Amino acid sequence: MRKPFIAGNWKMYCTKPEATKLASGLAASIGSLEEIDVALCPPYTALETVHNVIAGTRLRLGAQDLAWEKEGAFTGEVSALMLIDVGCEFVIIGHSERRQFFGETDQSVNRKLKAAISGGLDPIMCVGETLPERESGSTLDVIRRQLDGGLTGIACEKLTIAYEPVWAIGTGRVATPEQAQDVHAFIRGWLNHAYGPAAGGIRIQYGGSVKPDNVAGLMVQPDIDGALVGGASLKIESFSDIVRGSTKRK
Ligand code: PGA
Repeated sequence: MRKPFIAGNWKMYCTKPEATKLASGLAASIGSLEEIDVALCPPYTALETVHNVIAGTRLRLGAQDLAWEKEGAFTGEVSALMLIDVGCEFVIIGHSERRQFFGETDQSVNRKLKAAISGGLDPIMCVGETLPERESGSTLDVIRRQLDGGLTGIACEKLTIAYEPVWAIGTGRVATPEQAQDVHAFIRGWLNHAYGPAAGGIRIQYGGSVKPDNVAGLMVQPDIDGALVGGASLKIESFSDIVRGSTKRK
């Protein structure tokens, strides 16, 4: 059985004092749970601060992006080595906001995945369709294209996939557990085909308006192994409740 995995994507929120407060509260409330993996993904500027606050707890640290190059003259970029240096174990790659606002493509996602894995980070690769894509019936084609393009030449150990329908992110409009499960089952099938038995260990998170009151219904689905949480990860109580609500599954 795959161990549930919840990650909090703090996006561009939290100064260092705010991050300290949030991370300490989470450390106290969910920092010792063993039946679930939990990662906090603050902005770059708060990574080291959060690393220090969660030291000695079971909470893990992740970044929200990375550079595809190892080092060099790439103004504004942050490498895998630098993320490891400040205590990261995970990195989110290809979030829809990066695809939408910063020109990320399946090809850049692929390069970043390779950089993460060769640098020693466990990637959380995001996929998901927009509302027009869903309404035109092309959801599974989009997901297939993102998986085909993003995962070319990528080994599957340590990989996590996050299915995040773009229309459900930050909108309060969560996919129904059945809608999410349909796409998760498709992703699971793609992974099985690509990786064989080793794919059984890959966790697939759902993301998009996950809240304490909808997480249990999602987690009970056979192919939903966790959640990537945005807005609700910024409050101690709601994120703790989501994490606790995810431990009692199946
Ligand atoms: P949300 O964001 O939970 O605020 O919808 C999810 C995400 O963008 O990862």
